[in-house]
Amino acid sequence: MATADVTVQRVLHFCMVPTLLICLMFIFIKKFGSSIKDRLISAFWNHAMVKYHTAMRDIKKIHFNPMNYHKSADLYLRNKGLLRILEIGAGSGANFEFFPPNSKLTVVEPNAFFEPLFYKRQQKSDIKMEKFLLSHAEDMKEVADNSMDVVVSTLVLCSVKNVKQTLKEVQRVLAPGGKFYYWEHVHDVPGTWLHFLQNLLTYTIWDLCFGCHLNRNIDHVVEENKTLFSHIDQERFDIPLMNGSFAWKLVRVHVMGVATK
Ligand SMILES: C[S@@+](CC[C@H](N)C(=O)[O-])C[C@H]1O[C@@H](n2cnc3c(N)ncnc32)[C@H](O)[C@@H]1O
Repeated sequence: MATADVTVQRVLHFCMVPTLLICLMFIFIKKFGSSIKDRLISAFWNHAMVKYHTAMRDIKKIHFNPMNYHKSADLYLRNKGLLRILEIGAGSGANFEFFPPNSKLTVVEPNAFFEPLFYKRQQKSDIKMEKFLLSHAEDMKEVADNSMDVVVSTLVLCSVKNVKQTLKEVQRVLAPGGKFYYWEHVHDVPGTWLHFLQNLLTYTIWDLCFGCHLNRNIDHVVEENKTLFSHIDQERFDIPLMNGSFAWKLVRVHVMGVATK
């Protein structure tokens, strides 16, 4: 074989084949990447949430308890002692036990793989499903203005694309006097190792793998947008750490709050 032919063959072998493989991989990831990621996140979170939410149960119970005394802005429902609740980013359904019995629940959740997991848990509860909407909390056009008595978010504002826009949407759908209950992990104060690590991981792998920001000051964003609400009650706290797990340490600092429209 001529030297030129051998060179062409080598170029084909060492350049074209890897380039072709990379192109095919790129096309595959572009077409199926986000659905694979959504499937993995739903499976991971469905498993991980059990331990997390079991450990948080007692504190969450106290946080959500006032919901039991909330009166619906809708006269018919108020007379029946019922509430309209919207849960954003409900995942596989971690909060049924905190909602007053027979509440009418609407869910806004962008990840379709959570839906069957969510319904599996919902069927064991006494919560009545209104709608499960596959959409984002930043744009809840399927939910009417002033139509909800309560909006709930647990561990979601770390994942939304735009916290401010989400708060605006929450305010829009709440009826006057309606309450927004939130429970989120937040960025530790500057100067701590945790603050540094939360930045480092968020900007490298965390957002990419889990679609979550460890370094959001959600309580500060709520405070900056306080004009959306008539009253805000919020406090930072440290979650009880179980078995010294590294992931738990990363989300040690939380905020729980109730914002009233
Ligand atoms: C860490 S999981 C928390 C699930 C559940 N709230 C819980 O406490 O177990 C985050 C959830 O937020 C959802 N999410 C992500 N981006 C969202 C968005 N823009 N609007 C609404 N939900 C979103 C995810 O699909 C996922 O269900």
